[in-house]
Amino acid sequence: MTDLNPQLQQMADESMVRNLDAQARAIWPQERPLFDRYGLSGPLRVLDAGCGTGEITWRLAERFSEATVLGVDIIDHHLELARARHAAWTPRVSFEHQSIFELPTPDGTYDLTVCRHVIQSIPHADRVLAELKRVTKPGGWLHVIAEDYGQLHFPLGGELDVRDFWHEVPARFGAATGTDLFIGRHVAGLVEQLGLADIRLDYVVVDTLRVERDTFATILEAWRDGYVAPIAEHTRFTAEQATAYFERMIADIRTPGRYASWQVPVISGRVSA
Ligand SMILES: C[S@@+](CC[C@H](N)C(=O)[O-])C[C@H]1O[C@@H](n2cnc3c(N)ncnc32)[C@H](O)[C@@H]1O
Repeated sequence: MTDLNPQLQQMADESMVRNLDAQARAIWPQERPLFDRYGLSGPLRVLDAGCGTGEITWRLAERFSEATVLGVDIIDHHLELARARHAAWTPRVSFEHQSIFELPTPDGTYDLTVCRHVIQSIPHADRVLAELKRVTKPGGWLHVIAEDYGQLHFPLGGELDVRDFWHEVPARFGAATGTDLFIGRHVAGLVEQLGLADIRLDYVVVDTLRVERDTFATILEAWRDGYVAPIAEHTRFTAEQATAYFERMIADIRTPGRYASWQVPVISGRVSA
């Protein structure tokens, strides 16, 4: 049987907790206005599917001031952290152990279903998207951040060409784990196949001009700490080589005058009424 969570170890690692905090600080300021166009207000029901430590679950409750927001995940330690860190938002915000492959939820439950930074890490993303559509109300919205590791750019020159790393590592890692680490560019097509309407793809740009260098670098440092070992396992790069590439990217981000960017696809669509 396919491993439905091949990145379980990396997702549960302490480095991921750091990463989710930094990613939220880097991405949410540009992502928050995207929710305006859905025209949603009032006592909504919102699902944060694969909520991790709940960094966005509480931000959704802040954005939608009358909404009830449920965050679901399969890592109990993340759920415990989320409950402890965001207790001030109870009872509008709650967290439950549920798998997004098979939600224990009737059809058409949520006005807004959000799934961020999850589907690049799991196989059968199409099944998950279909399940998220199923639990969303007719007329409700699906909002997905799907990472695409072909959309990171760093300065050229020097001994290491970072393009080699991003060209090869996601392809090999994905092949070894049954996942698509370039799924950001495929999700618009997948939700179109599901019959969603009003599909849009926007980019949040995490770069050294829009985001604090320290916040951006913290994301790469967390990736280094959590992913060097599996990269060495799944690709031709050794742990030392993978570390050297990450160090090069982190140095670029941290050095004033050097420009680096990560374009993060945000895909949305409306479930037809
Ligand atoms: C990179 S984290 C993103 C967390 C959160 N969405 C955010 O944006 O901060 C991915 C999360 O998806 C969760 N996940 C993976 N497979 C899942 C599944 N089948 N059901 C629920 N959550 C899942 C992982 O446990 C992890 O916490």
